[in-house]
Amino acid sequence: MMHAGNIPRRQYRAHGKVILLGEHAVVYGHPALAGALADGVTVEAVPGHGLLRIPQWNVVIDPAVAPAVDRAEALARAYAEILRRAETRSPLDLTLAFNLPTGAGLGSSAAMAVAIGRALGLEGAMLADAAMASETVIHGKPSGLDHTVSMAGGFGLFTRTGGLAALKAAPLPLIIGHTGKARDTKGRVARVAQLLAERSAETRGRFAAIESLVQRGADAVTRGSYGELGAAMTENQRHLEALDVSCPEIERMCAIARDAGAFGAKLTGGGGGGCVIAVGNERAVSDAWRAAGFDVFTATVSA
Ligand code: PMV
Repeated sequence: MMHAGNIPRRQYRAHGKVILLGEHAVVYGHPALAGALADGVTVEAVPGHGLLRIPQWNVVIDPAVAPAVDRAEALARAYAEILRRAETRSPLDLTLAFNLPTGAGLGSSAAMAVAIGRALGLEGAMLADAAMASETVIHGKPSGLDHTVSMAGGFGLFTRTGGLAALKAAPLPLIIGHTGKARDTKGRVARVAQLLAERSAETRGRFAAIESLVQRGADAVTRGSYGELGAAMTENQRHLEALDVSCPEIERMCAIARDAGAFGAKLTGGGGGGCVIAVGNERAVSDAWRAAGFDVFTATVSA
């Protein structure tokens, strides 16, 4: 009998993501500044039968058996898309761990797909294709930002048509707090579309202003000027509020962060709930958010 210690185990990792600046305007072709969250997902692979285990969710997916539970069903379909593209010679059992909050707009599902794809030997365009297929099962119509950032790591400027242009910058410590409310990406994207139809000039003006904040922020991160990045984030948040994608909890968290000495704070992702990010005075900001009852997660944007 083989001793447990002799079983060949391999670990694979993939990044989560955060939008530092530019969400919503990015839907209309403007660039967004994105960052990768180190170690978003870890997958451990051992020789086996193709099982995917997610202990945090109490889920075991056997590709040979159709699962009954809703979430497991989507996961099983996403996993099947990745398996279909992989040509593993020997079957593996995978155990997956999320190292960031899931369902929070931090790219956990894309990181899951990328880490699984890597464990199954996929890389480059094949890995991107498998991750996009998995994301399409889970999200319907993903922009591709999440899995692109997950694969690339680091910082980048993302546009819908041009993909990701990498930026060279030092690791950025970030505080991420959850409003406690689910984000409403679909509803908020629809609201911005309505504003664009009803108040076209004003809305286009805000997109242009957001684009210049994205450029300013990108320049600031490459110089390690977190004060300037924070100022751009706070200004971006004012436009997001005017675009009707904020909510009282987000505004409250931004105010608490600023009072605690953050250089800047804003929502990240779809808005209407979900997460708020802040830079500067990480300790004081996370203490203040925790004291106000919000869940806090500290992370580093890095390669
Ligand atoms: O909520 P998330 O993390 O999926 O981010 C949505 C970002 C938007 O710009 C609002 C929409 C999009 O598709 O780019």
